[in-house]
Amino acid sequence: MAKEKEIVVSGIRSTGILHLGNYFGAIRNYIRMQEEFNCYFFVADWHALTTHPDPTSLRGNVYRVLAENIASGLDPEKVTLYVQSDIPEIAELYLLLNMMAYKGELEKVPTFKDKVRQNPDNVNAGLLTYPVLMSADILIHRAVKVPVGKDQEQHLEMSRNFAQRFNNRYGELFPEPYPFNYGDDLVRIMSLDGNGKMSKSENENSTLYLNDSDDAIRNKIKKAKTDSGPQEANSAKPDYIENLFTLMKLVSAPDTVQFFDAAFNNCNIRYGDMKKQLAEDMVNFIRPIREKAEAIQQDHEYLHRIMRQGAEKSRESAAATLKEARRLMGINFY
Ligand code: TYM
Repeated sequence: MAKEKEIVVSGIRSTGILHLGNYFGAIRNYIRMQEEFNCYFFVADWHALTTHPDPTSLRGNVYRVLAENIASGLDPEKVTLYVQSDIPEIAELYLLLNMMAYKGELEKVPTFKDKVRQNPDNVNAGLLTYPVLMSADILIHRAVKVPVGKDQEQHLEMSRNFAQRFNNRYGELFPEPYPFNYGDDLVRIMSLDGNGKMSKSENENSTLYLNDSDDAIRNKIKKAKTDSGPQEANSAKPDYIENLFTLMKLVSAPDTVQFFDAAFNNCNIRYGDMKKQLAEDMVNFIRPIREKAEAIQQDHEYLHRIMRQGAEKSRESAAATLKEARRLMGINFY
């Protein structure tokens, strides 16, 4: 008998336009994984609610994230693609898992502390229990691999803790999920100004979005942070320069990367030339995704069909896990 395919889950919040961090941290893996694994990918609209988006933009962003995933190469016939809020089983598992999560550990999560710092007037319970909902997303399908960027590592560690606690208390149900990336390390794409990571809502002028026009891409890359170049042969690259090389490796031909890498090591790199080349390769990379996503995003009939089909498949798997969780906990009466 053929070996069962490993289960993969990952989600993206519907809080804005997708950017290169989302693409290279998550979506690029999704596209390869869909050929090998049993994949569940979703739009995390409940997670988006923690920051109180207005309803019209939340709704539009759900269509947008779906369209951008499909335009990037995700095939809804190969994966189960759905919207989180279409799966009520996730909300129930979230409730059950909340009993495994302690206030002290939730308060220590760096992403929670960041949000408290940025927005002290909106420290809601949904924000505090964000990692519990994320664990429910993953454990509901009993996933073992979770393709995410580096920023989600800590959340995955918490998911493993909650899974272990449940298993120890009630009996073996959940396998331990691990973050996944093709290649060695999890990816972290920095903002082009060298300050922090690319993000859907901050640093807009230094973030490359999947819907940026050709000129916007060229302008943003032109303004990317560089310096006067290395003084000594073979020196270490500052992180903002390393980031430009990372982007170049992702979108340019290998010999182009080698050319600029050698120039860096020989101390005769011209960052202006490098940025011009990177900009053209980036335009060629983003343009087809942008054009496809624009068309798909308008086609609500098509997207509704995908969403319904995905919800049906996802609920089947979710209901089976939830039934087991209830039975193990003693919530089974009939
Ligand atoms: P979100 O919506 O912030 O980001 C979606 C994915 O993109 C990755 N990412 C990055 N990777 C590299 N460099 C960056 N600058 C960068 N910015 C974002 C993220 O790591 C993520 O993989 N909590 C999640 C959504 C979520 C989820 C889940 C993920 C909800 N439930 C279950 C996996 C499994 C989030 O906010 O991602």
